Amino acid sequence: MTQWRLKSARLRVGVLWRSLFDVGVWSRFGRNPRESLLWLLTPILDVSYQRRNSATIARSHDVVLSNLSALQSGRVKIVDLSELHTLEPFSRYRNTDAADRLGAAFAGHNSDKARHDYHLIYQPILAMVAESNPLPCLFEIGIGSNNLRVSNNMGVLGTPGASLRAFRDWLPTGRLIGGDVDASVLFNEERISTHFLDQLRPESLRAVLQKNSPIDLLIDDGLHTAEANSNTVISWLSVVQPSGWLVVEDISPGRSSEDLWKLLGQLLPAGYQSWLVKTSVGYCFLSRRD
Ligand SMILES: C[S@@+](CC[C@H](N)C(=O)[O-])C[C@H]1O[C@@H](n2cnc3c(N)ncnc32)[C@H](O)[C@@H]1O
Repeated sequence: MTQWRLKSARLRVGVLWRSLFDVGVWSRFGRNPRESLLWLLTPILDVSYQRRNSATIARSHDVVLSNLSALQSGRVKIVDLSELHTLEPFSRYRNTDAADRLGAAFAGHNSDKARHDYHLIYQPILAMVAESNPLPCLFEIGIGSNNLRVSNNMGVLGTPGASLRAFRDWLPTGRLIGGDVDASVLFNEERISTHFLDQLRPESLRAVLQKNSPIDLLIDDGLHTAEANSNTVISWLSVVQPSGWLVVEDISPGRSSEDLWKLLGQLLPAGYQSWLVKTSVGYCFLSRRD
């Protein structure tokens, strides 16, 4: 304990010593003596104040998020997969055989969607999409990249374009569009076209979505950060048609994710229905415009 105190005191004296010989300090003193004195004394009072300060702010953001999400009036239903299948409209469109075939289509193209049980979510949604538009358009953010330096790549064994090809097989009259930040994975094939976009640049995302509208189903399987996801939601709102769907995959598990998505769903305009589905890897957010 005494040793720790000695070390800490030495550190504070060191910071003060360095500050005294910093030319900037003296010119600051001339301009604003009170503020400069406080600045000079801060390391003496508490070297770790900044670290502690940002931890306090982060914690208070979590509490505020939790408080705000508690205000939501049940507009976002939080369910696991088996509960989802009992709810309207999923219960009406659910088909176990078809879901198995969709799972096999994902696995056959080397997409990990079936491993995460997403075929059970997509099967009823794709049935609704195909019913409301005989020539449906599906747009997926995240084509798949083998480049290990790209965030959220699929590793060297993945197959870029895997899920787009599985969706193409599933929707025989569908138009499939992909978008990715890794320009090297872009490709064009029968009924599939792909475009460069960066989810962290909302204007680039919105421009590509607008150019390819109308979109019946938008899937976010890209960067998977809250920032990227919220850009997707905002961009989707600018292009979504009646009966249009949004699926945001692979939302990280945990209380703050749940709070954030409850709040986000609550803030969508009237006329949208949303579900937050618990999956083996976290959550999947679904929303549909009436
Ligand atoms: C898991 S992979 C997609 C897998 C594919 N959807 C499948 O199931 O076969 C995620 C993709 O998101 C892309 N990505 C990462 N950051 C992105 C960003 N900021 N904007 C757009 N795409 C991004 C990566 O390049 C990668 O191709």
